[in-house]
Amino acid sequence: MIEDPRGPLQIFRDHESTSLRTFGMSETPPLLVAGEGARLYDAAGRDYLDFACGSGVTTLGHGHPAIRKAIQAQLDTGIWHIGAHLPHGRRAELYQELLAVLPAELTRINPANTGAEAVEVAVKAARFGTGRTEIIAFQGGYQGRTAGALSVTSYARIKRPFLPLMPGVIHVPYPYPRRSPFGRYGQTAEECAALCLEFLEQALSNPAGGVTDPAAILVEPIQAVGGVIIPPPGFLRELRRLCDRYGLLLVVDEVFTGFARTGRWFAFQYDGVIPDLVILAKGLSGSLPLAAVVGREEILGRWDPGLHSSTFHGNPVACAAAAASIRAIREEGLVERANEVGRWITEAYPQLRDIPIVGDCRGIGALHGIEIVEPEDGRPAPARIKPIRSEGVHRGLLLWECGWYGNVIGLVPPVVISRTEVSRAMEILAAILRDEAQHPGESA
Ligand SMILES: Cc1ncc(COP(=O)(O)O)c(C=O)c1O
Repeated sequence: MIEDPRGPLQIFRDHESTSLRTFGMSETPPLLVAGEGARLYDAAGRDYLDFACGSGVTTLGHGHPAIRKAIQAQLDTGIWHIGAHLPHGRRAELYQELLAVLPAELTRINPANTGAEAVEVAVKAARFGTGRTEIIAFQGGYQGRTAGALSVTSYARIKRPFLPLMPGVIHVPYPYPRRSPFGRYGQTAEECAALCLEFLEQALSNPAGGVTDPAAILVEPIQAVGGVIIPPPGFLRELRRLCDRYGLLLVVDEVFTGFARTGRWFAFQYDGVIPDLVILAKGLSGSLPLAAVVGREEILGRWDPGLHSSTFHGNPVACAAAAASIRAIREEGLVERANEVGRWITEAYPQLRDIPIVGDCRGIGALHGIEIVEPEDGRPAPARIKPIRSEGVHRGLLLWECGWYGNVIGLVPPVVISRTEVSRAMEILAAILRDEAQHPGESA
């Protein structure tokens, strides 16, 4: 490394685009030099329990031996990139592994590099496959920040500076009973979901419903960035029914929820539906940048060559990592393991719920959200999130941030974490939240 007396953090401050959130967790984030399992280490040897997993990527933890071996083996061949214009064994291997864990009706795979790009692929495929234009997306939905993905994303703050975006997106309510889109707090999850579905169906069926040329419904089975919003059982099934009734494609965004994260291979399996297109990234490789859309023959088997393409598609090192990761999830029983991790996290809920700034604790598998509120009236408390995360860094616990209102602490540990590590993390978290409740904003 070039000698520079400023040190790395100052180089980020001076030269990195301010669009990156390098200082989002803490003004003095650790410079990490090693990782193993659920732990990351800084240069001084301090360890951090990783409950952020690089925004939900490292589901198998850091340095997983099977992924390491697969990456190493591919590096040793000297082929690190050849492009998708040539076939490669690792890409074929990944396709086989992927198809084996997805419904048999999904037979075609389009690789991509990031979740956002895969969303673009799915939107293009839905339009091409149906010859129609409109995408029905959801309030609270997050699909990434490239222009097309940003169009189906719902958050005004990150969209507004870049308008106009892709036209033809209609956002409809998502069942978040605690802050119901219908403004009536106190609904059950089932009532809230029923209202959302009724709204959607009437938008599709009413000649004045505002939907003109619908191609697809694009949905996250659980909104992760939205704050770990888990619709009640049957919600996706009803969306499938609406898609079938009105001739739309069901596009399920499993970028965050896929590959064991929620205690199933894919969260859509909780409802037993078969989507037309599934969007995958993050936990697909658990490590290197890789994404994919998997879909039915009649959609992804009909594209003209080159209708979507990108230089790094199907990178052999990333494909080797992903194939190894899928095998490891299967062979090491990590889907069930995610449920166990969920049970350990949930054991701490009662003590968290007693803390006045905790408005809600919810989660499934290894994906949980602790909603932080102002104790007087329960309104979202986004300003408390950074002090909590920053204090987490200080006490050796890395936390994620999410939520419609940016007021949810996300708990996204790797599924290989031990029970002792989960207990330790939850003790640290409870102590931080108690301190924050008593002395707001007095973080490290
Ligand atoms: C559900 C979902 N879709 C798409 C994306 C975008 O993925 P990426 O950040 O890899 O572009 C994300 C990222 O958090 C996501 O959670």
